[in-house]
Amino acid sequence: MQSLSHDQVNYMTYLKVSELLDLQGLLSTHHDEMLFIVIHQVFELWFKQIMHELEELIRCFEADNIQRGIKVINRITTIQKVLITQIDVLETMTPTEFSEFRDNLRPASGFQSVQFREIEFLCGLKNENILNMFSGMPLLKARLEKWVGVPTIYDHFIRVLARRGFTIPDGVLNRNVQEPYQTNEAVLAAIEVIYKQPEAHYDLYTLCEALLNFDENFNLWRYRHVKMVERTIGMKTGTGGSAGAKYLMGTITSRFFPELWDVRALIGTY
Ligand code: HEM
Repeated sequence: MQSLSHDQVNYMTYLKVSELLDLQGLLSTHHDEMLFIVIHQVFELWFKQIMHELEELIRCFEADNIQRGIKVINRITTIQKVLITQIDVLETMTPTEFSEFRDNLRPASGFQSVQFREIEFLCGLKNENILNMFSGMPLLKARLEKWVGVPTIYDHFIRVLARRGFTIPDGVLNRNVQEPYQTNEAVLAAIEVIYKQPEAHYDLYTLCEALLNFDENFNLWRYRHVKMVERTIGMKTGTGGSAGAKYLMGTITSRFFPELWDVRALIGTY
């Protein structure tokens, strides 16, 4: 919290606009570098808001406040639509324009976005290789480590199901949250009941669909990002050292909430 006396509060001081406008440290004189920096900074601000909302979502789950949880997820998915759409703005920069300052920012890469990784970790994609990438940056590594030993969003959701009377094995409820989640028949069966009798569990049914929107939008963003990468640098390797678009294509099938996807095959006729 910042402390500003009432007579000091105005648009510029409250929002720290001067400080914000001072944060675009160009490394070249190329016209398009400003766009490149601004768009990444805007993404980072939205990532911060998404983390803020995910922490609120956990509080909603812990309080079994499903209605508010749905509201929180709906805000996140609305932000995601902005994130997906604003890639269009960056696509107004041509490969030729980007190539003129790309070397200046090497080895910086979105790969190293700690907030993007915090969202992934909290949603279940905890990855030791990613954690080790931050070895030389202890403060950033500590930010990520915070999420390694805590239950994921999906763990919290499954605990809600258990408290609502669905049979969930102890092995799932007390699993080692540092390990990747393994899909489970009992969890799938619980979600199947919700989808087969929506009117009997309407709040949970709506919650499941909201979570799926979040998961789907995350992958839609990955897809839009990789297409933007392809049209800007083709199949070149990334500034972060990966295989570039080829690596990114491999990430677009990742899932935060697997049984929410698996249940679809069990609905209706085959
Ligand atoms: C011209 C624009 C961009 C290009 C060419 C580009 C390229 C790449 C490449 C090649 C990677 C793979 C890692 C590497 O080796 O560097 C990557 C990863 C990533 N980029 Fe971008 N990117 C661009 C814009 C953005 C923007 C605007 C964001 C918004 C924050 C972003 C966020 C990320 C993230 C989070 C990753 C890690 C994805 C993962 O590992 O699943 N990128 N980018």
